[in-house]
Amino acid sequence: MRSVAITNIGSLVTNDKSLELGLLGELRDAAVVVEDGTIAWVGSAAAVPETDEQIDVEGRTVLPGFVDSHAHLMFAGDRASEFSARMAGESYAAGGIRTTVAATRAASDQELEANLLRLTAELRTSGITTFETKSGYGLTVDDEARALRIAAKHTSETTYLGAHVVPAEFADRSDDYVALVKGEMLNQVKDSAKWIDVFCDRGAFTVDQAREILLAGKAVGLQPRIHANQLQQGGGIQLAVELDCASADHCTHFDQADVDALEGSNTVATLLPGAEFSTRATYPDARKLWDAGVRVAIATDCNPGSSYTTSMPFAIAVAVRDMHFTVEQAIWSATKGGAKALRRSDVGAIQVGMRADLIDLNAPSALHLAYRPGVNLINKTYTSEDFK
Ligand code: NIG
Ligand code: FE
Repeated sequence: MRSVAITNIGSLVTNDKSLELGLLGELRDAAVVVEDGTIAWVGSAAAVPETDEQIDVEGRTVLPGFVDSHAHLMFAGDRASEFSARMAGESYAAGGIRTTVAATRAASDQELEANLLRLTAELRTSGITTFETKSGYGLTVDDEARALRIAAKHTSETTYLGAHVVPAEFADRSDDYVALVKGEMLNQVKDSAKWIDVFCDRGAFTVDQAREILLAGKAVGLQPRIHANQLQQGGGIQLAVELDCASADHCTHFDQADVDALEGSNTVATLLPGAEFSTRATYPDARKLWDAGVRVAIATDCNPGSSYTTSMPFAIAVAVRDMHFTVEQAIWSATKGGAKALRRSDVGAIQVGMRADLIDLNAPSALHLAYRPGVNLINKTYTSEDFK
């Protein structure tokens, strides 16, 4: 057994409610002991038990690795010119997805995997230690199946998003495409996907189509999540609660009935600040959700169309500045909130028994993540495997 003590931690974000030290459970002058990749002890640096190895973080901050519960990493090409046109005044539409579908279908397996590895290296640099990725840029049986097969080699959080948009060859035959998504395509992907997702919005799929697809996924053992209310107010959030989705994502638009449905449910509202930023959309007011007791997460939504960023610190800073999160709420939402959005209880906090996924932050407190926007403060990202 290998034991490692991380000592001389100026500020330790534990997210441990039972400590009664604020939302983030912040301990000062702390230490953490990791045994074979699992957190074995958390306490005062003065009382740290003896271990095989020590890492002295010289008074810096340690927090749980970020949990990115929403990303689209299985694609080829980019859409820089679409972004540039948008910044010059064009608006964002779901149809842009088809540009990436064409590039993705044309790519080899090796190219898709290399792009995924490039992006996951970026995620790690930004402190992300758990990530979800969706398919959704293949939209044929074979292209969705290979995207999920490749993704499953690199994360356990794989999401089947055959219902991202109706591909061009099914134009005006969306019901036929829905039948494919919940039939043969689902059958071919179900062994490499954990989750099923639908883009339920203007220009994509209706609430009824989304319900059909998500129920078909549930019937073969996939767990549902949903893209809801990014482009317009609609019934996606309430459908998420109806089907016990782990998460309703985007929630750019919501009304009181949506808040009432989410409150007390087991569905997390996942907000994606990078998407509003990159599509110049109006930001949702997260404080309304938070104050009503809704569970909230923040994720990168990394994708080549609406949010081409792998930076969780960027998402946190924008969430604070423009969605009215407090800094503590944003940090919680990018760690514990993300874990809840993936229904994971082994990540998102620094407590005995959890995975030792940690960020060594070059700052006197985690508040600096939003206070110093655009500055790379991540000194080092550790995952449980680094301690084995
Ligand atoms: O989450 N909203 C749907 N899907 C992506 C965007 C996809 C794209 O534009 O390529 C999102 O923002
Ligand atoms: Fe998305």
